[in-house]
Amino acid sequence: MCGIVGYVGNKKCIPILINGLLKLEYRGYDSAGIATISNNYINIIKCKGRVCNLQNQAEINNLTSTTGIAHTRWATHGIPSKENAHPHMDNLGNFAVVHNGIIENYLELKNFLIDNGYFFYSETDTEVIPNLIHYFYTNDLIDDKMKLLRAVKNTCAKLKGSYALEIISKFNPNTVIAIRKSSPLIIGTNKSEKFIASDIPAILQYTNDFYFLADNEFAVITKNKLDFYDKNLVKQHKNTEKVDINCCSINKSGYKDYMLKEVYEQSTSIQNTFYKFMVDNNISFPYINIDIGSINMIYIVACGTAMHAGLCGKFALESLCNIPTIVDISSEFRYRNPLLNKNSLCIFISQSGETADTIAALELAKSKGATTLAITNVFNSSITRKADYSLYTYSGPEIAVASTKAYTSQITLLVGISIYFSELLANTNTHFLKDEILTLPNKIKQTLQTSSKIKKLAKKLYNKDNIFFLGRGIDYITSMEASLKLKEISYIHSEAFAAGELKHGPIALIDNESYIICTITDSTLIYKVISNIEEVTARGAKTIIITSEELQTSDSEFIIKVPKTNKLLSPILSIIPHQLLAYYIAKEKGLDVDKPRNLAKSVTVE
Ligand code: M6R
Repeated sequence: MCGIVGYVGNKKCIPILINGLLKLEYRGYDSAGIATISNNYINIIKCKGRVCNLQNQAEINNLTSTTGIAHTRWATHGIPSKENAHPHMDNLGNFAVVHNGIIENYLELKNFLIDNGYFFYSETDTEVIPNLIHYFYTNDLIDDKMKLLRAVKNTCAKLKGSYALEIISKFNPNTVIAIRKSSPLIIGTNKSEKFIASDIPAILQYTNDFYFLADNEFAVITKNKLDFYDKNLVKQHKNTEKVDINCCSINKSGYKDYMLKEVYEQSTSIQNTFYKFMVDNNISFPYINIDIGSINMIYIVACGTAMHAGLCGKFALESLCNIPTIVDISSEFRYRNPLLNKNSLCIFISQSGETADTIAALELAKSKGATTLAITNVFNSSITRKADYSLYTYSGPEIAVASTKAYTSQITLLVGISIYFSELLANTNTHFLKDEILTLPNKIKQTLQTSSKIKKLAKKLYNKDNIFFLGRGIDYITSMEASLKLKEISYIHSEAFAAGELKHGPIALIDNESYIICTITDSTLIYKVISNIEEVTARGAKTIIITSEELQTSDSEFIIKVPKTNKLLSPILSIIPHQLLAYYIAKEKGLDVDKPRNLAKSVTVE
């Protein structure tokens, strides 16, 4: 994963690099480092932990260079440590490299280099890259201005895996070379400055003009010039693209954490999402030209929270369109030879649009002739550039690692597209559902008012070792998402059970120490779930119930009511108390909610 930034221009690069790294910490925060170049000398400062540790290094303020590269790491090869932090250099200090991705054949390359007299200081896969560049550079007898680029090209030809790289060299002091393969990298430009980053928000405050590097494309970047080359070093012409996102929205707006802000933004984020496809109760997706009548199987493929949104989407697609829908985890789908053909529609959901397994799953679906539709929150992200069709959730940037507003927007969009397809198929009357969508922003605001009650509940639960979640039907999906939210930010072990499955094993876990949070919004299943609650209560468990305001449930220590809505939309409301509960439990434990341990927002390695 990891985030990378670079700068070539006429300003001191350090503040720009640090600022970019702070915006990219969502990609990993195990260590951070910077390499700058001045007087033909590469200066590296790095440290374990967060970017703020780098800012606190006294020497950093002495660096006046106007060319530099920087990195924030999510550890893959080697523990989080200063030694394993990027940038990495070759043995002689001629080349410095930052890398996002994984070099799968690094052991083979390392052995080759060791046999040729090189030695290694870190446990990373990345350290082979600067040494290979050195190897190819010194073995190239032609001394022309392409020499460094040739060395980088020859190096990349040896690498297997994924990489976005920035390279500086003391032989070309005012230049950064950038290259990517299956990891994102963009270049922002204005007259006399160039900015490189893993994503747009990291550098959006400096420019709106961007180049999107394609796979295996090289960029040679100086302050006044930008040259692009294909993998054979043939010069390429590229156009800039304008990106107008409001970067001012990327702050906490007075909230203590991004996650809390994002939970509270949900009434606006789902409204922004449905306003794009629904005008005056008419739903249209003008750019989606899918012959839905010819589709006999829909696959929804995604990871984590996005996959849970897909499970909610399955309910909508199957009930409104009568098309069998399979939901799959990207990392499973890509390796299981799914049965796809031209009559299959594959929907790929990804907030970031950069999740490596989801990208690979999409490539597989395309290669088998399926129609592909991407749902993402990030314009121009890798997934949108590869899919046949793309739809966006207009949630605004989601910074907290725990996904909240993206999830509810994804469900909104999936219900929207299901209604649209069903109208094309002339299947059902969908007016009632469209009317209901319009009521959601207000109902979300009402649901958020449960917050003070949930804070109290968090004080009761924060020191528990296990918390279970229970639900049936669409409420089981909410339980799965609730369990993921809780474990990822509070580190409490939790599991979600389909209530009907309890007796088939999980009930053995229940004793008088158990806490079970039940979601019940589906009126057709309420009596079934109440029976399951009785069964766990009889075994000593304490229950908390999150339910719809019109339903009468059994007694419980805590009952939290959410407004009534249509079943297909109910996960949008019922997840909110769970999001708040996970948040307040993590706060009670004094944890960093936005940056939980071992995680990163964007999983760009498989
Ligand atoms: O960017 P994506 O939607 O593809 O990310 C997928 C998952 O990594 C993500 O939803 C993850 O599970 C979240 N941390 C959950 O809160």
